[in-house]
Amino acid sequence: MTLGVQIAIDGPASAGKSTVAKLVAKQLRYTYCDTGAMYRALTLAAMCQKVTLNDEAAVLRVLKQITISFKPGEPEQQVFIDQQEVTEAIRQPDVTNNVSTVAALAGVRRQLVQHQQAIAAKGNIVMDGRDIGTAVLPQAAVKIFLVASVAERAQRRYTENLRKGINTPLAVLQTEIEVRDKKDSTRAISPLTQAKDAVLVDTTALSIEQVVAKIITIVAEKQKDQNK
Ligand code: CDP
Ligand code: CDP
Repeated sequence: MTLGVQIAIDGPASAGKSTVAKLVAKQLRYTYCDTGAMYRALTLAAMCQKVTLNDEAAVLRVLKQITISFKPGEPEQQVFIDQQEVTEAIRQPDVTNNVSTVAALAGVRRQLVQHQQAIAAKGNIVMDGRDIGTAVLPQAAVKIFLVASVAERAQRRYTENLRKGINTPLAVLQTEIEVRDKKDSTRAISPLTQAKDAVLVDTTALSIEQVVAKIITIVAEKQKDQNK
């Protein structure tokens, strides 16, 4: 079976991964897959069932009971747990602050990675997360590691929150981002790290449009090299 073209976009929290990945997918007419939404949906389901979040067996029982799915939508793709739409609910601060605990569980990662690989096997894909280039799609044709200064990332999240009517102080957001990045980068299984063959893109001073254009250029260059 020939695989489609795979574009892996990884990086720390609020670097712009999902915004940019979705636009790149739209421009190239590829499928977009937000893997963070899967970890978030499972975290929400586990929290609703009042499960201890570092209890792997209990969280895996929750995962077994639910189906996490996506529907394309504007401005965001919709996320569902079974028939219930949870697009907004999975972005609430309490889910954000707990998701890294659930994402550190080995069994959870095994199952969600399988789900992600099955989605990618269907055709051309842009997938974003933390371990896409290193673990989920190690053969991806293009790997991007998206970064920005922590101050810029906190400011972006702050502005986004204000649009949604959430008013968490900037300093609190910055600390939350730092704590989550540390947990994601230091966990035992598939920690957040730049794949050896990933291209580092620093977006601190770049607009969304500039980042999208940069990635499209990187993709075109890689494809030209492969066709030589
Ligand atoms: O959008 P944001 O950067 O805030 O986070 P996200 O991409 O929605 O991911 C939420 C959390 O899920 C991350 O902080 C990681 O703990 C976890 N995650 C992961 O471990 N592996 C992935 N491939 C994607 C997300
Ligand atoms: O997925 P990730 O957590 O990496 O970031 P995101 O949710 O795509 O982006 C976080 C926020 O930064 C969003 O509100 C984007 O609109 C914004 N953003 C930006 O202002 N400039 C960029 N170059 C990229 C994203």
